[in-house]
Amino acid sequence: MDSITPVDACDFTVFGGTGDLALRKLLPALYLRDRDGQLPDGFRVIGVSRAEVDDDGYRALVAGALREHVVAEDLDAAVVERLLGRLHHVRLDVADVAAWHQLHDRLKDGAASDDVIRVFYLAVAPGLFGTICEHLDEAGLVTERSRVVLEKPMGTDLATAQQVNAAVGRVFEESSIFRIDHYLGKESVQNLLVTRFANTFLEPLWNSRWVDHVQITVSESIGVGDRGSYYDRSGALRDMVQNHLLQLLCLVAMEPPTYVDRETVRDEKLKVLQALRPMTPELVDRDTVAGQYAAGLCEGRPAASYADEVGHASSTETFVAMRTEVQNWRWAGVPFYLRTGKRMPERVSEIVVVFKEPPHAMFPHSEGPTEPNRLHIRVQPDEGMRLHMTAKEPGPGGIRLRPVSLDLSYAAAFGGRSPDAYERLLMDVVRGNTTLFMRRDEVEAAWTWVAPILERWSQPSHRPRKYPAGTHGPVAAVTLLERDGRSWQETE
Ligand code: BG6
Repeated sequence: MDSITPVDACDFTVFGGTGDLALRKLLPALYLRDRDGQLPDGFRVIGVSRAEVDDDGYRALVAGALREHVVAEDLDAAVVERLLGRLHHVRLDVADVAAWHQLHDRLKDGAASDDVIRVFYLAVAPGLFGTICEHLDEAGLVTERSRVVLEKPMGTDLATAQQVNAAVGRVFEESSIFRIDHYLGKESVQNLLVTRFANTFLEPLWNSRWVDHVQITVSESIGVGDRGSYYDRSGALRDMVQNHLLQLLCLVAMEPPTYVDRETVRDEKLKVLQALRPMTPELVDRDTVAGQYAAGLCEGRPAASYADEVGHASSTETFVAMRTEVQNWRWAGVPFYLRTGKRMPERVSEIVVVFKEPPHAMFPHSEGPTEPNRLHIRVQPDEGMRLHMTAKEPGPGGIRLRPVSLDLSYAAAFGGRSPDAYERLLMDVVRGNTTLFMRRDEVEAAWTWVAPILERWSQPSHRPRKYPAGTHGPVAAVTLLERDGRSWQETE
Protein backbone atom coordinates (compact mmCIF):
# COMPACT_ATOMS: atom_id res chain seq x y z
CA MET A 1 0.00 0.00 0.00
CA ASP A 2 1.22 3.47 -0.89
CA SER A 3 2.30 5.69 1.97
CA ILE A 4 -0.62 7.66 3.30
CA THR A 5 1.38 10.77 4.02
CA PRO A 6 -0.83 13.49 2.57
CA VAL A 7 0.42 15.21 -0.55
CA ASP A 8 0.53 19.00 -0.82
CA ALA A 9 -2.50 20.97 -1.89
CA CYS A 10 -2.92 20.87 -5.64
CA ASP A 11 -5.09 21.98 -8.51
CA PHE A 12 -5.40 18.76 -10.45
CA THR A 13 -6.68 19.66 -13.91
CA VAL A 14 -7.78 16.87 -16.21
CA PHE A 15 -8.13 17.67 -19.90
CA GLY A 16 -10.58 15.08 -21.18
CA GLY A 17 -12.31 15.34 -17.80
CA THR A 18 -15.51 13.67 -19.00
CA GLY A 19 -13.70 11.02 -21.04
CA ASP A 20 -13.42 7.32 -20.46
CA LEU A 21 -9.99 7.38 -18.80
CA ALA A 22 -10.95 10.14 -16.38
CA LEU A 23 -14.19 8.50 -15.32
CA ARG A 24 -12.98 4.90 -15.30
CA LYS A 25 -9.50 5.32 -13.84
CA LEU A 26 -8.42 8.79 -12.72
CA LEU A 27 -11.36 9.86 -10.58
CA PRO A 28 -11.77 6.46 -8.91
CA ALA A 29 -8.04 6.55 -8.14
CA LEU A 30 -8.33 10.04 -6.62
CA TYR A 31 -11.36 8.90 -4.65
CA LEU A 32 -9.43 5.98 -3.15
CA ARG A 33 -6.49 8.24 -2.25
CA ASP A 34 -8.95 10.64 -0.64
CA ARG A 35 -10.50 7.80 1.30
CA ASP A 36 -7.06 6.87 2.65
CA GLY A 37 -6.52 10.45 3.80
CA GLN A 38 -3.95 11.41 1.22
CA LEU A 39 -5.68 14.43 -0.28
CA PRO A 40 -5.47 17.53 1.92
CA ASP A 41 -7.98 20.35 2.17
CA GLY A 42 -7.45 22.62 -0.78
CA PHE A 43 -6.89 19.74 -3.21
CA ARG A 44 -9.14 20.60 -6.16
CA VAL A 45 -9.93 18.57 -9.27
CA ILE A 46 -10.84 20.55 -12.36
CA GLY A 47 -12.31 18.57 -15.24
CA VAL A 48 -11.88 20.31 -18.59
CA SER A 49 -13.94 19.21 -21.57
CA ARG A 50 -16.28 20.41 -24.28
CA ALA A 51 -19.25 18.84 -22.51
CA GLU A 52 -22.06 21.19 -21.62
CA VAL A 53 -22.06 20.55 -17.91
CA ASP A 54 -21.66 22.88 -14.96
CA ASP A 55 -19.98 21.95 -11.66
CA ASP A 56 -23.08 20.18 -10.39
CA GLY A 57 -23.57 18.28 -13.63
CA TYR A 58 -19.95 17.18 -13.49
CA ARG A 59 -20.31 16.05 -9.90
CA ALA A 60 -23.33 13.95 -10.85
CA LEU A 61 -21.41 12.40 -13.72
CA VAL A 62 -18.45 11.55 -11.48
CA ALA A 63 -20.72 10.20 -8.72
CA GLY A 64 -22.16 7.76 -11.28
CA ALA A 65 -18.66 6.80 -12.44
CA LEU A 66 -17.55 6.10 -8.87
CA ARG A 67 -20.55 3.87 -8.30
CA GLU A 68 -19.68 1.99 -11.46
CA HIS A 69 -15.91 1.72 -11.12
CA VAL A 70 -15.20 1.51 -7.40
CA VAL A 71 -16.14 -1.75 -5.70
CA ALA A 72 -19.11 -1.29 -3.39
CA GLU A 73 -17.20 -2.19 -0.20
CA ASP A 74 -14.71 0.63 -0.88
CA LEU A 75 -17.44 3.25 -1.35
CA ASP A 76 -17.94 5.51 1.64
CA ALA A 77 -20.71 8.07 1.21
CA ALA A 78 -18.91 10.73 3.27
CA VAL A 79 -15.73 10.42 1.21
CA VAL A 80 -17.70 10.49 -2.03
CA GLU A 81 -19.26 13.77 -0.88
CA ARG A 82 -15.83 15.13 0.06
CA LEU A 83 -14.39 14.25 -3.32
CA LEU A 84 -17.38 15.70 -5.16
CA GLY A 85 -16.87 18.90 -3.19
CA ARG A 86 -13.39 19.18 -4.69
CA LEU A 87 -14.69 18.95 -8.27
CA HIS A 88 -15.21 21.70 -10.81
CA HIS A 89 -15.84 21.63 -14.52
CA VAL A 90 -14.53 24.10 -17.07
CA ARG A 91 -16.12 23.95 -20.48
CA LEU A 92 -13.40 24.55 -23.01
CA ASP A 93 -12.64 23.78 -26.60
CA VAL A 94 -8.86 23.84 -26.37
CA ALA A 95 -8.53 25.11 -29.94
CA ASP A 96 -10.62 28.18 -29.09
CA VAL A 97 -8.07 30.74 -27.90
CA ALA A 98 -10.75 33.14 -26.69
CA ALA A 99 -12.16 30.53 -24.31
CA TRP A 100 -8.99 29.88 -22.34
CA HIS A 101 -9.64 32.69 -19.90
CA GLN A 102 -12.21 30.40 -18.28
CA LEU A 103 -9.58 27.98 -17.12
CA HIS A 104 -7.35 30.88 -16.15
CA ASP A 105 -10.13 32.38 -14.07
CA ARG A 106 -10.85 29.07 -12.37
CA LEU A 107 -7.24 28.36 -11.50
CA LYS A 108 -6.66 31.89 -10.32
CA ASP A 109 -9.91 32.39 -8.46
CA GLY A 110 -10.07 33.38 -4.82
CA ALA A 111 -9.28 29.90 -3.55
CA ALA A 112 -5.99 29.61 -5.40
CA SER A 113 -2.53 31.04 -5.46
CA ASP A 114 0.38 30.64 -7.85
CA ASP A 115 2.14 28.74 -5.13
CA VAL A 116 -0.16 25.77 -5.32
CA ILE A 117 0.99 22.69 -7.24
CA ARG A 118 -0.68 22.57 -10.64
CA VAL A 119 -1.06 19.25 -12.41
CA PHE A 120 -2.25 19.31 -16.02
CA TYR A 121 -3.26 15.81 -16.97
CA LEU A 122 -3.67 15.49 -20.75
CA ALA A 123 -6.09 12.60 -21.24
CA VAL A 124 -6.76 13.72 -24.80
CA ALA A 125 -5.49 12.92 -28.31
CA PRO A 126 -1.69 13.47 -28.54
CA GLY A 127 -2.29 15.86 -31.45
CA LEU A 128 -3.56 18.33 -28.81
CA PHE A 129 -0.62 18.05 -26.40
CA GLY A 130 1.42 20.82 -28.03
CA THR A 131 -1.53 23.21 -28.39
CA ILE A 132 -2.62 22.74 -24.79
CA CYS A 133 0.89 23.34 -23.44
CA GLU A 134 1.24 26.47 -25.55
CA HIS A 135 -2.06 27.88 -24.32
CA LEU A 136 -1.25 27.02 -20.72
CA ASP A 137 1.93 28.98 -21.12
CA GLU A 138 0.26 31.94 -22.81
CA ALA A 139 -2.39 32.01 -20.08
CA GLY A 140 0.42 32.33 -17.51
CA LEU A 141 -0.61 29.10 -15.79
CA VAL A 142 2.74 27.33 -15.89
CA THR A 143 4.71 27.92 -12.72
CA GLU A 144 7.73 26.23 -11.20
CA ARG A 145 5.36 23.96 -9.33
CA SER A 146 3.42 22.89 -12.44
CA ARG A 147 3.60 19.47 -13.97
CA VAL A 148 2.16 17.99 -17.12
CA VAL A 149 1.06 14.37 -17.48
CA LEU A 150 0.96 12.77 -20.92
CA GLU A 151 -1.17 9.75 -21.57
CA LYS A 152 -0.27 7.31 -24.29
CA PRO A 153 -0.17 7.01 -27.22
CA MET A 154 2.96 9.16 -27.16
CA GLY A 155 3.05 9.56 -30.92
CA THR A 156 2.57 6.82 -33.45
CA ASP A 157 6.21 6.47 -34.46
CA LEU A 158 9.59 8.04 -33.73
CA ALA A 159 8.95 11.20 -35.75
CA THR A 160 5.58 11.96 -34.16
CA ALA A 161 6.91 11.12 -30.68
CA GLN A 162 9.75 13.58 -31.25
CA GLN A 163 7.28 16.25 -32.35
CA VAL A 164 5.16 15.72 -29.24
CA ASN A 165 8.22 15.76 -26.99
CA ALA A 166 9.56 18.90 -28.64
CA ALA A 167 6.21 20.72 -28.39
CA VAL A 168 5.73 19.85 -24.72
CA GLY A 169 9.42 20.46 -24.00
CA ARG A 170 9.11 24.06 -25.22
CA VAL A 171 6.90 24.81 -22.24
CA PHE A 172 7.80 22.27 -19.52
CA GLU A 173 11.19 21.17 -18.19
CA GLU A 174 11.80 17.43 -18.57
CA SER A 175 11.62 17.09 -14.76
CA SER A 176 8.03 18.37 -14.89
CA ILE A 177 6.89 16.03 -17.67
CA PHE A 178 5.24 12.79 -16.56
CA ARG A 179 4.77 10.29 -19.39
CA ILE A 180 2.49 7.60 -18.04
CA ASP A 181 3.00 3.92 -18.64
CA HIS A 182 0.51 2.54 -16.17
CA TYR A 183 2.31 -0.82 -16.06
CA LEU A 184 5.05 0.88 -14.06
CA GLY A 185 2.51 1.72 -11.37
CA LYS A 186 1.42 -1.87 -10.87
CA GLU A 187 2.44 -3.25 -7.49
CA SER A 188 3.89 -6.43 -8.91
CA VAL A 189 5.96 -4.52 -11.46
CA GLN A 190 7.50 -2.38 -8.75
CA ASN A 191 8.06 -5.50 -6.73
CA LEU A 192 10.14 -6.86 -9.55
CA LEU A 193 12.75 -4.23 -8.70
CA VAL A 194 12.57 -5.12 -5.03
CA THR A 195 12.78 -8.85 -5.71
CA ARG A 196 15.81 -8.39 -7.88
CA PHE A 197 17.69 -5.82 -5.85
CA ALA A 198 16.66 -6.29 -2.23
CA ASN A 199 17.49 -10.01 -2.20
CA THR A 200 20.88 -11.53 -2.79
CA PHE A 201 20.11 -15.02 -3.99
CA LEU A 202 18.80 -14.15 -7.44
CA GLU A 203 21.44 -11.75 -8.62
CA PRO A 204 24.28 -14.29 -9.18
CA LEU A 205 21.88 -16.36 -11.32
CA TRP A 206 20.39 -13.47 -13.26
CA ASN A 207 22.52 -13.69 -16.38
CA SER A 208 23.33 -15.72 -19.48
CA ARG A 209 25.33 -18.25 -17.50
CA TRP A 210 22.25 -19.55 -15.66
CA VAL A 211 19.23 -18.19 -17.50
CA ASP A 212 18.13 -20.11 -20.58
CA HIS A 213 15.54 -17.60 -21.75
CA VAL A 214 12.87 -15.16 -20.57
CA GLN A 215 9.21 -15.02 -21.58
CA ILE A 216 6.97 -12.02 -21.11
CA THR A 217 3.28 -12.49 -21.81
CA VAL A 218 0.51 -9.93 -21.47
CA SER A 219 -2.66 -11.60 -22.65
CA GLU A 220 -6.16 -10.19 -22.56
CA SER A 221 -9.46 -11.91 -23.13
CA ILE A 222 -11.27 -8.72 -24.15
CA GLY A 223 -11.56 -7.64 -27.78
CA VAL A 224 -11.22 -4.06 -28.93
CA GLY A 225 -14.87 -3.30 -28.16
CA ASP A 226 -15.73 0.35 -28.75
CA ARG A 227 -12.07 1.43 -29.02
CA GLY A 228 -11.96 0.15 -32.61
CA SER A 229 -11.37 3.53 -34.24
CA TYR A 230 -8.27 4.19 -32.08
CA TYR A 231 -7.09 0.62 -32.10
CA ASP A 232 -7.33 0.11 -35.83
CA ARG A 233 -4.81 2.90 -36.36
CA SER A 234 -2.59 1.57 -33.61
CA GLY A 235 -2.41 -2.22 -33.35
CA ALA A 236 -0.83 -4.32 -30.64
CA LEU A 237 2.74 -3.33 -31.47
CA ARG A 238 2.09 0.35 -30.77
CA ASP A 239 -0.58 -0.19 -28.13
CA MET A 240 1.24 -2.71 -25.93
CA VAL A 241 4.73 -3.71 -27.09
CA GLN A 242 6.38 -0.33 -27.63
CA ASN A 243 5.48 0.68 -24.09
CA HIS A 244 4.23 -1.90 -21.59
CA LEU A 245 6.13 -4.99 -22.76
CA LEU A 246 9.39 -3.17 -23.39
CA GLN A 247 9.14 -1.55 -19.96
CA LEU A 248 8.69 -4.97 -18.36
CA LEU A 249 11.66 -6.25 -20.33
CA CYS A 250 13.75 -3.30 -19.12
CA LEU A 251 12.96 -4.04 -15.49
CA VAL A 252 13.87 -7.70 -15.91
CA ALA A 253 17.10 -7.02 -17.79
CA MET A 254 18.46 -3.76 -16.33
CA GLU A 255 21.62 -3.50 -14.28
CA PRO A 256 21.29 -2.58 -10.61
CA PRO A 257 21.30 1.20 -10.29
CA THR A 258 23.46 2.64 -7.52
CA TYR A 259 20.26 3.44 -5.65
CA VAL A 260 16.64 3.79 -6.67
CA ASP A 261 16.12 7.28 -7.88
CA ARG A 262 14.35 9.05 -10.73
CA GLU A 263 17.36 9.29 -13.02
CA THR A 264 19.34 6.18 -12.06
CA VAL A 265 16.52 3.74 -12.75
CA ARG A 266 15.66 5.44 -16.03
CA ASP A 267 19.32 5.53 -17.08
CA GLU A 268 19.55 1.76 -16.63
CA LYS A 269 16.29 1.10 -18.46
CA LEU A 270 17.48 3.25 -21.35
CA LYS A 271 20.66 1.16 -21.63
CA VAL A 272 18.55 -1.98 -22.05
CA LEU A 273 16.50 -0.39 -24.83
CA GLN A 274 19.70 0.68 -26.54
CA ALA A 275 21.12 -2.85 -26.24
CA LEU A 276 18.15 -4.57 -27.89
CA ARG A 277 19.24 -6.38 -31.00
CA PRO A 278 18.31 -4.07 -33.87
CA MET A 279 15.60 -5.49 -36.11
CA THR A 280 16.44 -5.89 -39.80
CA PRO A 281 13.81 -6.79 -42.42
CA GLU A 282 15.08 -10.39 -42.33
CA LEU A 283 14.82 -10.54 -38.53
CA VAL A 284 11.34 -9.03 -38.63
CA ASP A 285 10.26 -11.81 -40.99
CA ARG A 286 11.96 -14.48 -38.94
CA ASP A 287 11.48 -13.35 -35.34
CA THR A 288 8.13 -11.57 -35.22
CA VAL A 289 4.57 -12.81 -35.63
CA ALA A 290 1.53 -10.60 -36.12
CA GLY A 291 -1.92 -12.05 -35.59
CA GLN A 292 -5.53 -10.93 -35.76
CA TYR A 293 -8.44 -12.65 -34.07
CA ALA A 294 -11.13 -14.35 -36.09
CA ALA A 295 -14.48 -15.32 -34.62
CA GLY A 296 -14.30 -17.93 -31.88
CA LEU A 297 -15.23 -18.79 -28.33
CA CYS A 298 -13.74 -16.68 -25.61
CA GLU A 299 -14.33 -17.52 -21.94
CA GLY A 300 -17.20 -19.77 -23.05
CA ARG A 301 -18.98 -17.10 -25.06
CA PRO A 302 -19.06 -16.58 -28.83
CA ALA A 303 -16.77 -13.71 -29.83
CA ALA A 304 -16.93 -11.79 -33.10
CA SER A 305 -13.91 -11.41 -35.33
CA TYR A 306 -11.81 -8.25 -35.17
CA ALA A 307 -12.95 -7.31 -38.67
CA ASP A 308 -16.58 -7.55 -37.55
CA GLU A 309 -15.87 -5.48 -34.45
CA VAL A 310 -14.27 -2.64 -36.40
CA GLY A 311 -16.71 -3.04 -39.28
CA HIS A 312 -14.27 -3.66 -42.13
CA ALA A 313 -11.40 -5.86 -43.27
CA SER A 314 -8.18 -4.64 -41.70
CA SER A 315 -4.51 -5.54 -41.55
CA THR A 316 -4.09 -4.24 -37.98
CA GLU A 317 -2.55 -6.79 -35.64
CA THR A 318 -4.28 -7.70 -32.38
CA PHE A 319 -1.53 -10.13 -31.41
CA VAL A 320 2.26 -9.92 -31.45
CA ALA A 321 4.87 -12.50 -30.58
CA MET A 322 8.55 -11.87 -31.01
CA ARG A 323 12.02 -12.98 -30.11
CA THR A 324 14.71 -10.52 -29.26
CA GLU A 325 18.02 -10.35 -27.40
CA VAL A 326 19.66 -7.85 -25.11
CA GLN A 327 23.13 -7.52 -26.53
CA ASN A 328 25.26 -6.87 -23.51
CA TRP A 329 27.63 -8.77 -21.23
CA ARG A 330 24.96 -10.02 -18.86
CA TRP A 331 22.47 -11.29 -21.42
CA ALA A 332 24.52 -12.25 -24.49
CA GLY A 333 22.72 -15.01 -26.40
CA VAL A 334 19.68 -15.23 -24.07
CA PRO A 335 16.42 -15.00 -26.02
CA PHE A 336 13.66 -12.78 -24.67
CA TYR A 337 10.29 -13.85 -26.06
CA LEU A 338 7.49 -11.31 -25.88
CA ARG A 339 3.84 -12.01 -26.52
CA THR A 340 0.66 -10.00 -26.20
CA GLY A 341 -2.79 -10.20 -27.68
CA LYS A 342 -6.46 -9.52 -27.36
CA ARG A 343 -9.07 -12.27 -27.30
CA MET A 344 -6.69 -14.78 -25.83
CA PRO A 345 -8.05 -17.40 -23.41
CA GLU A 346 -7.65 -15.28 -20.26
CA ARG A 347 -6.37 -12.03 -18.83
CA VAL A 348 -2.97 -12.76 -17.45
CA SER A 349 0.37 -10.97 -17.42
CA GLU A 350 3.35 -13.00 -16.46
CA ILE A 351 7.13 -12.91 -16.70
CA VAL A 352 8.80 -16.31 -16.71
CA VAL A 353 12.53 -16.67 -16.23
CA VAL A 354 13.54 -20.16 -17.32
CA PHE A 355 16.86 -21.32 -15.91
CA LYS A 356 19.26 -23.75 -17.51
CA GLU A 357 19.33 -27.45 -16.75
CA PRO A 358 21.69 -28.47 -13.95
CA PRO A 359 25.16 -28.84 -15.48
CA HIS A 360 25.41 -32.49 -14.47
CA ALA A 361 22.70 -35.19 -14.17
CA MET A 362 23.31 -36.70 -10.74
CA PHE A 363 20.25 -38.92 -10.56
CA PRO A 364 20.56 -41.13 -13.64
CA HIS A 365 18.53 -43.97 -12.10
CA SER A 366 15.78 -41.87 -10.69
CA GLU A 367 12.19 -41.91 -11.87
CA GLY A 368 10.31 -38.79 -12.82
CA PRO A 369 11.10 -35.72 -14.85
CA THR A 370 13.76 -33.14 -14.10
CA GLU A 371 12.50 -29.83 -15.28
CA PRO A 372 14.59 -26.69 -15.39
CA ASN A 373 13.86 -24.21 -12.62
CA ARG A 374 11.45 -21.49 -13.59
CA LEU A 375 10.55 -18.32 -11.79
CA HIS A 376 7.05 -17.12 -12.67
CA ILE A 377 6.39 -13.52 -11.75
CA ARG A 378 2.65 -12.97 -11.94
CA VAL A 379 1.89 -9.34 -12.71
CA GLN A 380 -1.89 -9.79 -12.81
CA PRO A 381 -4.31 -11.07 -11.72
CA ASP A 382 -3.43 -12.81 -8.41
CA GLU A 383 -0.07 -11.04 -8.12
CA GLY A 384 2.67 -13.24 -6.83
CA MET A 385 5.65 -15.40 -7.59
CA ARG A 386 6.17 -19.08 -8.07
CA LEU A 387 9.51 -20.84 -8.21
CA HIS A 388 9.38 -24.24 -9.86
CA MET A 389 11.87 -26.72 -8.48
CA THR A 390 12.49 -30.42 -8.43
CA ALA A 391 12.15 -32.34 -5.16
CA LYS A 392 12.39 -35.92 -4.02
CA GLU A 393 9.05 -37.58 -3.57
CA PRO A 394 9.01 -38.81 0.03
CA GLY A 395 9.29 -42.56 0.56
CA PRO A 396 11.72 -45.45 0.40
CA GLY A 397 12.64 -47.54 -2.63
CA GLY A 398 14.79 -45.35 -4.80
CA ILE A 399 14.64 -41.73 -5.77
CA ARG A 400 11.61 -40.39 -7.48
CA LEU A 401 11.80 -36.79 -8.67
CA ARG A 402 8.77 -34.56 -8.53
CA PRO A 403 8.24 -30.99 -9.78
CA VAL A 404 7.09 -28.77 -6.91
CA SER A 405 6.69 -25.05 -6.47
CA LEU A 406 7.36 -22.40 -3.87
CA ASP A 407 4.50 -19.94 -4.01
CA LEU A 408 4.17 -16.39 -2.86
CA SER A 409 0.72 -14.89 -3.21
CA TYR A 410 0.59 -11.19 -2.38
CA ALA A 411 -3.01 -11.45 -1.31
CA ALA A 412 -2.20 -14.26 1.15
CA ALA A 413 1.06 -12.70 2.37
CA PHE A 414 -0.04 -9.10 2.75
CA GLY A 415 -3.85 -9.19 2.69
CA GLY A 416 -5.81 -6.10 1.83
CA ARG A 417 -6.56 -4.48 -1.44
CA SER A 418 -3.88 -4.09 -4.08
CA PRO A 419 -4.05 -0.45 -5.16
CA ASP A 420 -4.65 0.34 -8.80
CA ALA A 421 -1.59 1.55 -10.72
CA TYR A 422 -3.10 5.00 -11.18
CA GLU A 423 -3.41 5.59 -7.44
CA ARG A 424 0.32 5.34 -7.02
CA LEU A 425 1.17 7.21 -10.20
CA LEU A 426 -1.15 10.17 -9.58
CA MET A 427 0.30 10.74 -6.13
CA ASP A 428 3.83 10.52 -7.58
CA VAL A 429 2.89 13.25 -10.04
CA VAL A 430 1.71 15.52 -7.25
CA ARG A 431 4.88 14.78 -5.28
CA GLY A 432 7.00 15.47 -8.35
CA ASN A 433 8.59 12.02 -8.41
CA THR A 434 9.29 10.95 -12.00
CA THR A 435 10.95 7.58 -11.24
CA LEU A 436 8.01 5.52 -12.52
CA PHE A 437 7.45 7.63 -15.61
CA MET A 438 9.12 7.39 -18.99
CA ARG A 439 11.78 9.86 -19.85
CA ARG A 440 11.92 11.41 -23.30
CA ASP A 441 14.99 9.42 -24.37
CA GLU A 442 13.39 6.13 -23.24
CA VAL A 443 10.25 6.72 -25.28
CA GLU A 444 12.29 7.66 -28.31
CA ALA A 445 14.64 4.67 -27.91
CA ALA A 446 11.61 2.36 -27.76
CA TRP A 447 10.19 3.88 -30.95
CA THR A 448 13.59 3.61 -32.62
CA TRP A 449 13.69 -0.09 -31.85
CA VAL A 450 10.18 -0.86 -33.12
CA ALA A 451 10.57 1.30 -36.25
CA PRO A 452 11.88 -1.49 -38.55
CA ILE A 453 8.97 -3.70 -37.49
CA LEU A 454 6.45 -0.95 -38.18
CA GLU A 455 8.10 -0.34 -41.52
CA ARG A 456 8.08 -4.00 -42.55
CA TRP A 457 4.51 -4.51 -41.37
CA SER A 458 3.33 -1.47 -43.29
CA GLN A 459 4.13 -3.18 -46.62
CA PRO A 460 0.96 -3.97 -48.59
CA SER A 461 1.96 -7.65 -48.70
CA HIS A 462 1.94 -7.87 -44.89
CA ARG A 463 -1.09 -9.61 -43.43
CA PRO A 464 -1.46 -10.64 -39.80
CA ARG A 465 -2.17 -14.32 -39.35
CA LYS A 466 -5.65 -15.19 -38.16
CA TYR A 467 -6.25 -16.95 -34.86
CA PRO A 468 -9.61 -17.99 -33.44
CA ALA A 469 -10.75 -15.78 -30.55
CA GLY A 470 -10.09 -17.58 -27.26
CA THR A 471 -6.80 -19.17 -28.34
CA HIS A 472 -3.13 -18.44 -27.70
CA GLY A 473 -2.59 -16.75 -31.07
CA PRO A 474 -1.48 -18.05 -34.45
CA VAL A 475 0.44 -21.30 -34.76
CA ALA A 476 3.45 -19.31 -35.95
CA ALA A 477 3.82 -17.97 -32.38
CA VAL A 478 4.26 -21.53 -31.15
CA THR A 479 6.72 -22.32 -33.94
CA LEU A 480 8.75 -19.25 -33.01
CA LEU A 481 9.79 -21.02 -29.81
CA GLU A 482 9.67 -24.62 -31.04
CA ARG A 483 12.27 -23.71 -33.60
CA ASP A 484 14.58 -22.95 -30.66
CA GLY A 485 13.58 -26.16 -28.83
CA ARG A 486 11.39 -24.24 -26.35
CA SER A 487 7.71 -23.69 -25.67
CA TRP A 488 5.50 -21.01 -24.13
CA GLN A 489 4.81 -21.53 -20.45
CA GLU A 490 1.04 -21.33 -20.25
CA THR A 491 -0.38 -20.49 -16.87
CA GLU A 492 -1.29 -23.34 -14.57
C1 BG6 B 1 -3.68 -0.02 -22.40
C2 BG6 B 1 -4.00 -0.44 -23.80
O1 BG6 B 1 -2.52 0.77 -22.37
O2 BG6 B 1 -3.47 -1.17 -21.59
C3 BG6 B 1 -5.21 -1.35 -23.82
O3 BG6 B 1 -4.26 0.71 -24.60
C4 BG6 B 1 -5.03 -2.51 -22.87
O4 BG6 B 1 -5.46 -1.82 -25.15
C5 BG6 B 1 -4.60 -2.01 -21.51
O5 BG6 B 1 -6.27 -3.20 -22.79
C6 BG6 B 1 -4.23 -3.17 -20.59
O6 BG6 B 1 -4.01 -2.68 -19.30
P1 BG6 B 1 -4.25 -3.62 -18.03
O7 BG6 B 1 -3.83 -2.76 -16.88
O8 BG6 B 1 -5.69 -3.98 -18.03
O9 BG6 B 1 -3.38 -4.81 -18.25
